[in-house]
Amino acid sequence: MRRLTSRTALLALVAAGVVGGLLLLVLTLKSPVIFGLRDDIKHAIPHQAVPEGVASLSAEACGVCHREIYDEWKTSIHAQAYDDPLFQAYWRKDKHIWVCLNCHTPLQNQQPEVITDLRGGRINRPVSHPNPAFDPSLQREGITCAACHVRDGVILGPFGDSVAPHPTRYDPRFRSTEICYTCHAVPSDRFQFYNGGPCATFMEFEAGPYKAKGYICQTCHMPEVERPIAEGGPVRKGRRHLWRGGHDPDQVKRALSVSLAADQAELKAGKKATWTLTLTNSGAGHMLPTGDPDRYLQAEFEVVDAAGRVLSSRSLTVKRWILWWPVIYEYDDTRIPPFESRDLAFSYAVPRRDEGLTLHVRVSYHILTERAYQRLQRKYGLTVEVPHVFTLYEEQVPLREGTVQRQAAARPTPPRCAPEQTHADETG
Ligand code: HEC
Ligand code: HEC
Ligand code: HEC
Ligand code: HEC
Ligand code: HEC
Repeated sequence: MRRLTSRTALLALVAAGVVGGLLLLVLTLKSPVIFGLRDDIKHAIPHQAVPEGVASLSAEACGVCHREIYDEWKTSIHAQAYDDPLFQAYWRKDKHIWVCLNCHTPLQNQQPEVITDLRGGRINRPVSHPNPAFDPSLQREGITCAACHVRDGVILGPFGDSVAPHPTRYDPRFRSTEICYTCHAVPSDRFQFYNGGPCATFMEFEAGPYKAKGYICQTCHMPEVERPIAEGGPVRKGRRHLWRGGHDPDQVKRALSVSLAADQAELKAGKKATWTLTLTNSGAGHMLPTGDPDRYLQAEFEVVDAAGRVLSSRSLTVKRWILWWPVIYEYDDTRIPPFESRDLAFSYAVPRRDEGLTLHVRVSYHILTERAYQRLQRKYGLTVEVPHVFTLYEEQVPLREGTVQRQAAARPTPPRCAPEQTHADETG
């Protein structure tokens, strides 16, 4: 008996030692950020000179001749990738680590420091010196025109035949998803176990059905348009520079079809009715939601009485379930792949007397949780209000004898979809 106890104690000690050792190893090797360093993320795009025929690298200088494109870009989140208050708050949380800038202000011209090396290859041990050519106003332009279009004094673009006051060169990447890859295929690091990567929109697209249908990211995010691409130039087929995503409720609505059906045509007093809410990803070329792991969808049923009290409820959270500490481990993912659906069913017995009860059904999209949002306000200097919850669908059903219901049909078919169709309905 005594021997057994001491053996158990010894085993426990060894186990604790092993666990402690592993934890220590993880904590020393753990990345200070939630993603890994691929070679192209380690470096800013090298310093770019101003092409001939253009006054400066700034978007405004391009806008002199490319007015409509400039106006569109200006409304996009790419233009706000640095000033974005959520970026600024999270960046403060991450102690202003340099690496964020390589995607949020990707040109060397936009960065105050030049990183020449990493001691021991570690993200948090950069070797750096001040950048003498740092342009603070260009920094505030985030993903500016030049980040995609300017290399080695030449303006790269999708055409081969433009006659411009600046040097131009055709670059096939503009007609493919490659131009989005660097920033939208964010990889994981050691001891980070994601399904795919922290912001893996590109990988989700590659694995999904849209690629084979001839789509690229631009099909949906930069809708086709015929117009002069420069003031006074010929009409061409180009693309609007909109890049709408999670911050635009209309864009999120384009991704989602919602249907609500009951198992009976008419509500009967004293009888239980069951409703099924079906969410279908009918319009996104990747997971819904995608990108930033903070994003989620919430679907809710609530029975509310005349005084506004909630008597019964059920909800479904559509998101990635990630353990963030001590290692990053994605243990579940309930997001909706293209053309797939998620169901949420709810049952309730309709009262015999009309008690003024209502069934509320709601689907909302969240940029981040209320808790995370408040933490950014409390601890990381978020002062402006950022809209971060959008209602996408709402329905109210009186729980009363005789109320007519939509009946459960076969599963709703997601809209068929072809690249031409998406151009026509102006997704952006
Ligand atoms: C003084 C006017 C002017 C300025 C300033 C200007 N452009 Fe242009 N750009 C043009 C004209 C004109 C064309 C050719 C239009 C055509 O052929 O349809 C053009 C063509 C282009 C093309 C298409 C190239 C191709 O062959 O695919 C791109 C991309 C472009 N410009 C980007 C920019 C960017 C980025 C800036 C700022 C750094 C800029 N332009 C500044 C007038 C200008
Ligand atoms: C995130 C990368 C990116 C940024 C930032 C960007 N563009 Fe583009 N641009 C593209 C892509 C992709 C195309 C190719 C569209 C197509 O296939 O017609 C393009 C095409 C163009 C064209 C050719 C006309 C057309 O519609 O195809 C012009 C001109 C142009 N961009 C100017 C600008 C200007 C000016 C800015 C800044 C105000 C800017 N771009 C910012 C990616 C970008
Ligand atoms: C240089 C890096 C970079 C490139 C290249 C780039 N993006 Fe982005 N993109 C970003 C960053 C960073 C954000 C988020 C900015 C923020 O919210 O602060 C973003 C945001 C977006 C959003 C909106 C997300 C939202 O929250 O609303 C869409 C859509 C998008 N990008 C599509 C594209 C497409 C399509 C391409 C290729 C044509 C592309 N991006 C190329 C870095 C990039
Ligand atoms: C079939 C149309 C379609 C295609 C193709 C498509 N998207 Fe989207 N994308 C959408 C819709 C609709 C949304 C809004 C719903 C959502 O957030 O999932 C969206 C959302 C996004 C967001 C917002 C994420 C956030 O955090 O708010 C990003 C970033 C994005 N797409 C990037 C891309 C990239 C990069 C590609 C190509 C690899 C691509 N998309 C291909 C339709 C498309
Ligand atoms: C490899 C490119 C890349 C790097 C490096 C990067 N980001 Fe981003 N970031 C993106 C892209 C792309 C998006 C937007 C689309 C999405 O949701 O995936 C984004 C979105 C964000 C958002 C959401 C903004 C919003 O308005 O909702 C925050 C916050 C953010 N990044 C903070 C950071 C911080 C802090 C760092 C450094 C620790 C960082 N990012 C490094 C590519 C990058």
